[in-house]
Amino acid sequence: MKTIQVNTGRPYQIQIGNGLLGQAPALIAQVYGERRPRLAVITDDTVDRLYGDRLLSLLEEAGYPVCKFVFPHGEQSKTLQTVHAVYGFLSENGITRSDVVVALGGGVVGDLAGFAAATWLRSIDFIQIPTTFLSMIDSSVGGKTGVDIPQGKNLVGAFWQPSLVICDPLALDTLPDIYFADGIAEAVKYGAILDASLFRLFEEGRLREQLTEVIARCIDLKRYVVEQDERDKGLRQQLNFGHTFGHAIEKQAGFTITHGQGVAIGMVLISRACERAGLTPSGTADRIQACLQQYGLPTSTDYPLGLLCQNAMGDKKRSGSQIALVVLQQLGQATLHPVSTDRLLAFMTGESDG
Ligand code: GLY
Repeated sequence: MKTIQVNTGRPYQIQIGNGLLGQAPALIAQVYGERRPRLAVITDDTVDRLYGDRLLSLLEEAGYPVCKFVFPHGEQSKTLQTVHAVYGFLSENGITRSDVVVALGGGVVGDLAGFAAATWLRSIDFIQIPTTFLSMIDSSVGGKTGVDIPQGKNLVGAFWQPSLVICDPLALDTLPDIYFADGIAEAVKYGAILDASLFRLFEEGRLREQLTEVIARCIDLKRYVVEQDERDKGLRQQLNFGHTFGHAIEKQAGFTITHGQGVAIGMVLISRACERAGLTPSGTADRIQACLQQYGLPTSTDYPLGLLCQNAMGDKKRSGSQIALVVLQQLGQATLHPVSTDRLLAFMTGESDG
C-alpha cells in the first residue's frame, strides 16, 4: 500500500493499493478511531451492482451504521435535482454533522456526493472511493465538488476536501475500455504539463504494465499542484491543459463523447496552435497525438474552430475578456498564456501571434 499525504487546508491521506476496497473499514478507522460515525454511501446503479453490497457488508460487519443512496449512472444525473434527492435521503437517515458521506464510484458520483457533503448542514466529512481511472488520478483528489446546470458543466460547486481517499486499482478490472481511455487522456496530460519522464512512459506504451505506479505518480503530481494552489487561482489552472477546447467539443457533441476524448483532441489542437505561435517547440503536438492514438483516443474533430471558440467563451477559465490557455513550453513544463477572447479564433488559426 502507498500512502500520499495531501497538505491542504484540511489535510488528508490517499491510500493506494490492490485490494484496498476490502480494507475500507480499517482505513476508515484510521481516520475516526474507535468512533463509528454513520456512513451514508452514495453511488450509481452500475457501481452499486459491482461493489455496493460488498462494501456495505464490510462496513456493517465492522460496526458502522450504514445507509445507501443509488442514482442512475451518467453525467445526466449530475444535477441539483439529484442533490436535492440526496438531501432528502440524508435527512431521512438522520445524518448529522458527526457522520460521513462515502462517495463510491467515478467522477460524477464523487463530484455530486462531495457537493452534497460540502453543503449538507453547512458541510460534513466525506470519503472518496474512486472506481474509475479518471476519478482515481484526478477528480477524487483536490476537493473540487459540484454539479452541472443547463448553462454548463460544473458551474455550481464548492471546494471541499475529502477526509480520506481509498484507491483500489483492482476496481479497474471491471471498467470498460472506453472509460479507461478517459483516464488515460488525463494521465497523458499530467506527463505533458509536469513530468516528461511520465510522458515518455506513456509514449512507450508502458501504462498498463505499471498501472499502480502510474496512478500513484499521477496522484502525487496532482497533490503537488493542489497543495500550492488549492483554490485554483494560478498553478492549478495548468491542469486544464486541453480542457478549454476539450469542454467545447464535449458540449458541441451534446456529451456523446467522453471527457477524455474531448481532452485528447483539445491537447492536440492547442499544442498545434501554440507551435504555430512559436510558444511550443515544433514536433510536440505530433508526439502528443501519436501517444494518445496508441491508446485509442481521438485527436481531431470536424467541428469548425469558430464554433468551438464560441463555446469556449462559456468556459470557467475565462476571466473578463481574457481566457487563460495552458501552453507547453516543452513536454513536462507548462505555463498560462492569456489571450483576449476576441483574438482566440485568430490565435487558434494562426492568423495572429495571440
Ligand atoms: N481537474 C482539475 C482540477 O482538479 O483542478
